[in-house]
Amino acid sequence: MSIALIVLAAGKGTRMQSDLPKVLHRIAHAPMLWHALRAGSALAPERTVVVAGHGADLVETSALEYDPEMRVVLQEEQLGTAHAVAQARPALDGFEGDAIVLYGDTPFISEATLNAMAEARRKHDIVVLGFEAADPARYGRLVTEGDDLLRIVEFKDATEEERALTLCNSGVVAADAQTMFELIEAVGNANASGEYYLTDIPGIARARGLSATVVRCPEAETLGVNSRADLAAAEAAFQARARAELLDLGVTLPAPETVHLAWDTVIGRDSEIEQNVVFGPQVTVESGARIRAFSHLEGCHVSRGAIVGPYARLRPGAELGEDVHVGNFVEVKNAILHEGVKANHLTYLGDAEIGRKTNIGAGTITCNYDGVFKHKTTIGEGAFIGSDTMLVAPVTIGDGAMTGSGSTITEDVPAGALALSRAPQQVKPGMATKLMNMLRSRKAKGQ
Ligand code: UD1
Ligand code: MG
Repeated sequence: MSIALIVLAAGKGTRMQSDLPKVLHRIAHAPMLWHALRAGSALAPERTVVVAGHGADLVETSALEYDPEMRVVLQEEQLGTAHAVAQARPALDGFEGDAIVLYGDTPFISEATLNAMAEARRKHDIVVLGFEAADPARYGRLVTEGDDLLRIVEFKDATEEERALTLCNSGVVAADAQTMFELIEAVGNANASGEYYLTDIPGIARARGLSATVVRCPEAETLGVNSRADLAAAEAAFQARARAELLDLGVTLPAPETVHLAWDTVIGRDSEIEQNVVFGPQVTVESGARIRAFSHLEGCHVSRGAIVGPYARLRPGAELGEDVHVGNFVEVKNAILHEGVKANHLTYLGDAEIGRKTNIGAGTITCNYDGVFKHKTTIGEGAFIGSDTMLVAPVTIGDGAMTGSGSTITEDVPAGALALSRAPQQVKPGMATKLMNMLRSRKAKGQ
């Protein structure tokens, strides 16, 4: 069965108090919309249509960044959820199969739930995703009889008796695409909101002799985001789930509640992530690596057996080979550190490639930026960079070469050579004592 996803993302999100369209607010470093799209991708959709409205240009850019094949359609006026789905019709021209409607602001529907909906579609024409709400509040209510969904009633239009129902509408619905569009044609807007409700279609379907049913999911999956407080709650829910998944995969987290993960963080089993580690987007950590406390990682790869931190910063393009050690207050950006490199203290390595087993002394800096251009530093294998070396790029240090502590290296250093560039030391016996005595006597005279 071919599947098309229709993701509704036209709403303004007034309660977010924001200039940014609601679905572009981020959870774990990805727009909410991407979470919804990723959830839907579990069904391997043949086509995906995003219905944009408020901030459509921004929403379109974001959707295409997620998947350039995406179709984005415009709902110029937000006349209701049925009207929103109808906007996707031209983009699904010629499509045969099921349409599943997801909401851009309901990011956490699980794969298992979507599969259960697909399964239920074998027996019923319309499948609606419902949940037992702890506090049904203003959700649409599902009126059922056994397995059958008779109709959905919106809170505003519901009787007292209907409002007492706790089985609520998540908004997610699946049906044959052409059937869904035909049913939507029959939806009117004579209701309390004057909107075209997608929720009218089960009732219309039944009147036409079609069947409708409900698949239930845990309430946490239907968690919608309408305010900054909801966004914070969604972030917390995401983090809790992602940490639990890592623990299940065999990653050691001595204080899981202090580790912040991104939506796409990948960590291999038998790794250890210590307290207060923060992951930005696009990080992969191989098995058996150790990320020590208070480190910050984004856009980087850490290989097996590497040790990072405490207090390390890995920025985009940091590529750490096996058994590399990167210690406290070391920043690595766009740099490849091959197997066994050690850079343990107070160092900046940017736009660099460093060969196997090279040791980088404390306080080393690759001076990669001249104010306009970035330049590369290349260091060979088994080299020894003395503490406090300034490597003024572009510069190349050969295999097995050394630089003396405190050197400013502006010229290439051949393999096996020692480069020194520092003023020769002078020693003046007794001079320190003499100088201090002079200064103290001046102070005593009030000079
Ligand atoms: C909707 C459901 C309600 C359900 C609730 C779950 C309807 C009529 N009601 O109500 O039964 O319990 O979701 O959260 O469907 N949108 C558009 N264009 C529009 C209107 C909405 O794209 O013209 C999008 C919104 O951006 C949002 C989603 O559709 O992502 C739901 O719209 P919203 O206005 O939040 O519907 P609710 O009143 O919450
Ligand atoms: Mg809503």
